[in-house]
Amino acid sequence: MTDQPTTPLPVIIDCDTGVDDALALLFAVRHPALDLRAVTCVAGNTDVDQVVRNTLTVLEQAGAPDLPVARGAERPLIENTRRAAVHGRDGMGDLGLPAPDRMPVEVDAVTLLRREILAARRPVTLIPTAPLTNIALLLRTHPEVTRNIERIVFMGGAVAVGNATPVAEFNVWHDPEAAAILLTAGVPITMYGLDVFQQVVVPGTDVRRLRASDEPGTRLAGELLAHRPTAQGGPTEAEAAGGLGDAGAVCAVADPAGIATRLLPVEVSLAPGPARGQTIVDRRPRPGESEIHEGAREQPLVDVALEVDVDRFVKLYLETVERP
Ligand code: BDR
Ligand code: CA
Repeated sequence: MTDQPTTPLPVIIDCDTGVDDALALLFAVRHPALDLRAVTCVAGNTDVDQVVRNTLTVLEQAGAPDLPVARGAERPLIENTRRAAVHGRDGMGDLGLPAPDRMPVEVDAVTLLRREILAARRPVTLIPTAPLTNIALLLRTHPEVTRNIERIVFMGGAVAVGNATPVAEFNVWHDPEAAAILLTAGVPITMYGLDVFQQVVVPGTDVRRLRASDEPGTRLAGELLAHRPTAQGGPTEAEAAGGLGDAGAVCAVADPAGIATRLLPVEVSLAPGPARGQTIVDRRPRPGESEIHEGAREQPLVDVALEVDVDRFVKLYLETVERP
């Protein structure tokens, strides 16, 4: 008999805050079954110093306990820095939020990740919602951390359609080599890719209610959601709706039954050209001619999220961020 089911799950978020990373942080801070131990920052949606500022601001507005936040990689392993234009000038929707009073810790992200993972009494779940540069550097610098990692649930990749390119999702496209290192980490991995990421949309009526809240964290969630593009568009109600984005990956940690996954081989395309950054997910039911003629190549298996219960995650998100 262990006390694990009632003990909150230790989690660490590695992010590039980012409108939807901010939604993910708000959720993680407020969910009673999650114990957010640290947050590490990486260049992605915006430059890493702005990511640190945005992250500290969100934690402050959410009334989070004083948890460590560290600055990480300022650029990808090989690629140039390419910020995501959709998140505004400050990377977080230009909401005019105050500068944070909180400060980052003095150690870098890789050092903080190692320290927190090895110090945890129960194996940690890592939730990267950003390019995977920090995670790759951690795995190469301190591979011993894998002994105390329960699972890595990352937002990234796509089985079907990309966003940064027709086939590549932004986080993987931004640093494909880092993503390839993650996939061979030798720990259980869940890929929360664009296929499910884009489906979880909070209806406009709920977004309006959150924005009208007196409570700063809840109100911030509403403001952020109002800045999230959705696949819909057109009628006013759909325009007011907002996708959970990265926050869906944290919902999947708090409530794994909300996604349906399959253990599948996943490989990142690293060759220059139009497929660079694509996550190639092998869904074939049997080996093809390539394997018959050339033999099977060893490939990492990843739990790939193929379906999501949208209503369940929207309800979970709203209940959590509106928690008194
Ligand atoms: C990912 O890219 C970023 O812009 C979002 O924060 C999310 O992590 C989606 O492709
Ligand atoms: Ca992100």
